[in-house]
Amino acid sequence: MQISVSFLSSAYPFDKTIEKINDSMANFIHVDVMDGVFVNHVTPFTKEMLTLLKNSPKPKEVHLMTLHLKKYIDLFANLNPECIIYEFEATEKHEKVIEYIRNKKSKVGIAIGPLTDLKRLLPYLKKIDLVLVMGVIPGSGGQSFLKETIGRIEELQKIKKEQKLSFLISVDGGINEQTIKDIRDKGLNRAVSGSYICKSVSFDEQIKKLQY
Ligand code: DX5
Ligand code: ZN
Repeated sequence: MQISVSFLSSAYPFDKTIEKINDSMANFIHVDVMDGVFVNHVTPFTKEMLTLLKNSPKPKEVHLMTLHLKKYIDLFANLNPECIIYEFEATEKHEKVIEYIRNKKSKVGIAIGPLTDLKRLLPYLKKIDLVLVMGVIPGSGGQSFLKETIGRIEELQKIKKEQKLSFLISVDGGINEQTIKDIRDKGLNRAVSGSYICKSVSFDEQIKKLQY
């Protein structure tokens, strides 16, 4: 299982957090983007922060919790992320958004919030590389994992197997050494974790605890 680290809620300043992620065994830096419209919070990215992320050796995945997807895809494609993930509820024009992200030479992910019926993803699963199952209502770090997420991951894995699809299953929100136990063996390919890792002294110690 791959680990992607969200820097949203950290015990360290931004630069130090990114340095610690780069030095860790994490597979990805998870870049959370909030616009204050789709979700209440705003993530204020300065030029310096974007440059630091761009120059980071660790691969990046961008998680857009925004409306105005074209604008944000244009901006964050500059980081050369491996994958750009958008929120399912942020658009009705999925085919267009998927193609727009592909044209940026990035893989495509769709994030699905706890209140959205998974079946609505069915028409698009063949066209995307990753589904990000939200374990919390999108909008802030440090929330508690919603138990219903376990069944949702099982359901998605079932669909994936039945339809012989290849998208990766990832989970985001409320992940720690306890909550991961119920989902680790359910076809989960990647887990995003923020406060559990970034509020600790040794990032690698926490990552190892998630993986075993
Ligand atoms: C939630 C964000 C998550 C979050 C994860 O809206 O998309 O990436 O920061 O942080 P933790 O692991 O603290 O829930
Ligand atoms: Zn996220």
